[in-house]
Amino acid sequence: MHILVTGGCGFIGSNLIRMLRRARPTWKLVNLDALTYAGNVENVKDVGEDEHCAFVHGNVANAALVAGLFARYDFASVLHLAAESHVDRSIVGPQLFVETNICGTHTLLEAVRAHANVRFIQVSTDEVYGSAASGQCFTEATPLQPTNPYAASKAAADLLALAYQRTYGLDIVVTRCTNNFGPYQFPEKLIPLMCINALEDKQLPIYGDGAQERDWLHVEDHCSALLAILERGKSGSTYNIGTGQTCTNLTIATRILAHLGKPDSLIRHISDRPGHDRRYALDSARLRSELGWMPRYGLGDALTKTIDWYVENRGWWERVLSGAYRTAPANEFPSRA
Ligand code: NAD
Ligand code: TYD
Repeated sequence: MHILVTGGCGFIGSNLIRMLRRARPTWKLVNLDALTYAGNVENVKDVGEDEHCAFVHGNVANAALVAGLFARYDFASVLHLAAESHVDRSIVGPQLFVETNICGTHTLLEAVRAHANVRFIQVSTDEVYGSAASGQCFTEATPLQPTNPYAASKAAADLLALAYQRTYGLDIVVTRCTNNFGPYQFPEKLIPLMCINALEDKQLPIYGDGAQERDWLHVEDHCSALLAILERGKSGSTYNIGTGQTCTNLTIATRILAHLGKPDSLIRHISDRPGHDRRYALDSARLRSELGWMPRYGLGDALTKTIDWYVENRGWWERVLSGAYRTAPANEFPSRA
């Protein structure tokens, strides 16, 4: 059985491919990735390339390429992770987010529509719900109120996916996960950026007062949820994936500094992100009760383990930061021209 994984050279995608190779060794994975600044083949180097794991360098919004892949492989399902994923970049340049996250998802949905019996998992984010009030936990019924271009592009893609499920009777599920952390995360997101800056004795930039809260989930717990949803999730459903526990950005930064034996004086409060969501918190009762999913990691131990990974894998992030993997623009988006 062939499974298409999009974005398999990124942070979550590479962890997912590693986990699927272990957990479902007979599956044949096809990893379609454009190798943007955020994706690199070293992230899945240990998995190797063979008949169980093929890599295709290409853009999910390239309809001809996607149609060709669907003609060549008899896909049973698609795990769609490819995306522009960083909020700050979406504020500076939203167009690529529209092209990849909305048009790219639409291209894949069209390919699914043209082939019978393909299950499509739209991997999305809790950011589509907007900012949670104090004490509030988003359920799947919470109205969508995205507040930044990244979140809006993901919400649009989710709605397209659900509309295709209803209109065309396709087998489609949407997942919405909280903030992930773990190995191979591009060092522009909070946790790897703070680890690396602390290791380099550089300042840790905290937006505003740093009291914003996020519901942090270890990437392997996200991957185990995606496998459960792929195998047993109900078509047309949305599943939230999170711990329900929140932590402030300032707490994350001070824990990283403490673990690395660095002074709190490295923390520097800087201007806040425009439209910054104050709080994300997710209720994942549906996933827990219907599919029996539970997170394996608590924030404390998993954060320590993650910090140690960045300490031990200096070569990886030095190459990433030096732009050694910048192979991308084999693509046709006007905004990249
Ligand atoms: P990432 O930025 O680390 O990786 C994205 C991957 O997609 C990269 O390998 C990149 O090369 C590839 N890609 C980008 N544009 C592409 C295109 N047009 N065609 C093909 N490949 C393309 O992102 P991530 O953190 O691994 O996130 C993966 C998915 O999970 C995204 O859909 C994101 O919205 C979602 N998500 C992420 C988080 C999180 O905390 N990181 C939380 C919830 C949901
Ligand atoms: P980030 O990792 O970018 O994820 P998201 O915006 O998707 O939640 O940011 C997590 C939180 O950390 C968010 O509240 C913004 C904040 N943040 C900083 O304070 N400083 C930084 O340098 C970064 C990258 C993020």
